[in-house]
Amino acid sequence: MQNSASLIVVLGTGGTIAGTAPSSADDSAYTAAQLSIAQLLAAVPGLTAAPVESEQVAQVDSKDMSHAIWQALALRVAYHLARAEVAGIVITHGTDTLEETAYFLQRVLAPAKPVVLTGAMRPATSAQADGPGNLRDAVMVARESSRVGRAGVVAVMDGTVHGARQVCKAHPTRLDAFGSGEAGPLGVVQGSNVSWLADPAHPVAASADAPLDAALTRSVTQWPRVEIVVSHAGASGAVVRALCADGVQGLVVAATGNGTLHHELEAALLTAQAQGVAVRRSARSGNGRVLPPAAQGLPGASDLSPVKARIELMLALMPSGAP
Ligand code: SIN
Repeated sequence: MQNSASLIVVLGTGGTIAGTAPSSADDSAYTAAQLSIAQLLAAVPGLTAAPVESEQVAQVDSKDMSHAIWQALALRVAYHLARAEVAGIVITHGTDTLEETAYFLQRVLAPAKPVVLTGAMRPATSAQADGPGNLRDAVMVARESSRVGRAGVVAVMDGTVHGARQVCKAHPTRLDAFGSGEAGPLGVVQGSNVSWLADPAHPVAASADAPLDAALTRSVTQWPRVEIVVSHAGASGAVVRALCADGVQGLVVAATGNGTLHHELEAALLTAQAQGVAVRRSARSGNGRVLPPAAQGLPGASDLSPVKARIELMLALMPSGAP
């Protein structure tokens, strides 16, 4: 459904896009999350020519992203999306966990308007800062998505639009650090034009999710504890046993190959599952989907990366209804 609303709300959460360094020549020794969202918007020429509103929701280096910030952010996104005059939301975010926040918001809110996350690989003080261009692109994608009736959470980085399910940080330093794996991106931004590569009805772009209110209402201290373990050469079951003894409720294993596991780790995970811990196998290779087990084994997490499978399992284990 096309939207006649025109206001874009930009929510700030920190990250390198809001980072500062002592020198404009220094793109590595900087401190993330220093500038306010108002300062970031002021650095983009012409951005406020069309209606834009901003709010600072958090100010963190996204390596330290927490469930509490996720819940606060989801509540603010939901609040603004419910306003008739709001066409879409843009969120500035650190790139390190941007893909997790994108997936969390998509699964929890299943928004009927566009929500666009963006960030930067260079701090705001860099002589070649990429943040202003990414922010400009993100606002443009939010506005254009609203105009053509495209909804849901996407990420916009380095002129490319990625879906929340597929987006993945694939390089530690390059400006085009993000990819969508074998699914490919949803669109590209060229100048002031957004070209869509995937139809809104395509499974990569379409959202079949229903909102999950429990993640908005339940105290984060009551969210199920789900951890990630990795299968690797020389793996053992020690970490799994320690986590079970510590009360973990769910485990995602980043598996080798098509969901294969070191036999010692697999034995510990099967024991954990038999004791009531929910276990999912995801691919540590970062692409493709893990097929279901042939018989009674450990369920696969389909095409979800380990970090997104963790969110999915946490939400699945979250009791619905009043806390
Ligand atoms: C962060 O994730 O907050 C720091 C790194 C970045 O934004 O690129």
